[in-house]
Amino acid sequence: MNRYARIAGTGGYLPHRRLDNAEVVADLATRGIDSSDAWIFERTGIRARHYVDDGVYASDLAYEAAKRALAAADCPASAIDLIIVATSTPDMVFPSTASIVQRKLGIAGCAAFDVQAVCSGFVYALSVADAMIKTGAAQHALVIGAEVFSRLLDFNDRTTCVLFGDGAGAVVLKSSDTPGILASELHADGRYADILCVPGHVSGGRILGDPLLKMDGQAVFKLAVGVLADVARSVLVKAGKTEVDIDWLVPHQANIRIMQSTARKLKLDDSRVIVTVDQHGNTSAASIPLALDVGVRDGRIRPGDTVLLEGVGGGFTWGAVLLDM
Ligand code: UT7
Repeated sequence: MNRYARIAGTGGYLPHRRLDNAEVVADLATRGIDSSDAWIFERTGIRARHYVDDGVYASDLAYEAAKRALAAADCPASAIDLIIVATSTPDMVFPSTASIVQRKLGIAGCAAFDVQAVCSGFVYALSVADAMIKTGAAQHALVIGAEVFSRLLDFNDRTTCVLFGDGAGAVVLKSSDTPGILASELHADGRYADILCVPGHVSGGRILGDPLLKMDGQAVFKLAVGVLADVARSVLVKAGKTEVDIDWLVPHQANIRIMQSTARKLKLDDSRVIVTVDQHGNTSAASIPLALDVGVRDGRIRPGDTVLLEGVGGGFTWGAVLLDM
């Protein structure tokens, strides 16, 4: 009998502090930096984002999202035998945020580790969990994307600080004799490591290099639109499906123009794309599971629907997962 991984429940969590574009623009103005709601919305589709308060960490957001996913899956935390957290903003250098989430959930013993693939992190984590379930190494996996990107932002750089936000999304993935995840594909090209990075590191008790986010937005944009269309076609072929089989596209939420371009290339109407970038901004590894959770909870994504998840980001990394809900 074939073994597959199937999503049994989703959850999402956003910190309560919400800043709309007007507030971010007003904050930039206090430092003499010019921006506008019109620029941000027209270039990105973003209207608002959420930021954590001091003392709140990725594991706190991950824990809240995980609880909601477990409740939706009707799965006790004690049944979880694998936790993967996709994050580029871990609580600590080590231990992993996944280990801290495990402790917060009041469980012990199961495998727990982080995946670092920046905005592609959730797709990477889901793909790894799928492989572990297929081999029988896990039965009930908690796969989480959690980020506090507000901690990495340079609030003197208008080209990046308006784009990102904080949040977490989670899924419970269960072993099943019916699919589930149909196909996945992951890629990276380290030659482009510098176009989106946080170059600082900890050394000898100090931070060496710049610990704030740097992005060549246009370079990322150009690469993203090409690779996302290619990887989408590739997972469809792997699964023996075509564009017409896709019910919902749940892409990484960085820029509405990238999402619409992917939809056009897949001949998908914009109404088949789950969009949260307007309210969440870019939450990196959290953006896909957050968007998936929104689509599930508002009733658009229904059991049996075929969903394409696609991520792209620093590394340069990209990937896609095609699944039946
Ligand atoms: O999550 C990982 C994946 N990340 C992405 O996918 C991001 C991909 N890149 C993008 O989404 C877009 O490139 C951006 C939204 C980052 C930028 O949009 P753009 O249309 O590529 O703008 P641009 O960088 O070409 O900048 C156009 C102008 C520049 O001014 P000049 O040189 O033409 O005078 C910028 O300085 O817009 C200016 N600008 C701003 N103006 C007002 C940049 N940021 C702002 C701002 N407010 N916040």
